[in-house]
Amino acid sequence: MRLKDKVAIIIGAGQAPGASEAIGNGRATALLFAREGAKVFCVDRNLDSAQETANLIGKESGEAAATAADVTDEDAIAAAIRGCADTWGRVDILHNNVGISVEGGDAPLADVTTQAFDRIMDVNLLGTMLACKHVLPIMREQNGGTIVNISSASSYWTGHPTVLYPASKMAMVSFTRQIAIQNADRGVRANAILPGLMDTPMAVDRRVEALGRTREDIAAERDAKVPLLGKMGNGWDVAYAALFLASDEARFITGIEMPVDGGSLARVG
Ligand SMILES: NC(=O)c1ccc[n+]([C@@H]2O[C@H](COP(=O)([O-])OP(=O)(O)OC[C@H]3O[C@@H](n4cnc5c(N)ncnc54)[C@H](O)[C@@H]3O)[C@@H](O)[C@H]2O)c1
Repeated sequence: MRLKDKVAIIIGAGQAPGASEAIGNGRATALLFAREGAKVFCVDRNLDSAQETANLIGKESGEAAATAADVTDEDAIAAAIRGCADTWGRVDILHNNVGISVEGGDAPLADVTTQAFDRIMDVNLLGTMLACKHVLPIMREQNGGTIVNISSASSYWTGHPTVLYPASKMAMVSFTRQIAIQNADRGVRANAILPGLMDTPMAVDRRVEALGRTREDIAAERDAKVPLLGKMGNGWDVAYAALFLASDEARFITGIEMPVDGGSLARVG
């Protein structure tokens, strides 16, 4: 029970649709936090999906609630955070899981549009900033709290086929450092996780239709790029890293970027 009596908000706690059994990073994190004793407030633009996560937690005798909010809508995000604080009296953990890429119009530079730029930056960067903006006054008042922002190892990868997603995810790292230092005086911590190639519905199933290839084919191509055993990670790998950073075990850790990538960022050349 590493999060016993903690209250957590997970934004992007639903799951991207997909035909496989794979679990998304957000849902795995919500389930794991609840198994470790946290009350989990599940926020997603897709209420049915957030509710499904909350129901799964309920089936395991955990405590959860679900609400709808789009991360680009400041009023909705502020209301969701207030809703959590009103329901359970505090907010100990904010986990920002939402992120989009090609579905927001990400593309090679020659094909990038200003609409796609705005959309990707809004969902990935502004969305994270808005949630932090509205949770930090609560955490400062409590003299404690912790934020985990889901960035991406692609922040550092060169040769990425698109430009907007990695740029937005790198900006999240810088933003996380700033808020870590600006709130350290009140014991509020903020860290970023950089997942590498993970086997999630959003990353793999979504490409089956888009690229007209089989799931096995896409998964094998991704597996081959991972140094550690030539196999992608999954939602649970991100969830366990988030669990550590969100728990009191990480009480002296703030402002870091933690790769969860099977060694991808360690490989040079
Ligand atoms: N899967 C990977 O290989 C990988 C690699 C690096 C980083 N990441 C990051 O991990 C995070 C989760 O990825 P995942 O593949 O596990 O997806 P996921 O299954 O956790 O789905 C993300 C959730 O975000 C929700 N969402 C999307 N746009 C939203 C919005 N505007 N407002 C509110 N909710 C919204 C979706 O409805 C979905 O439920 C993302 O930030 C992604 O960029 C994933």
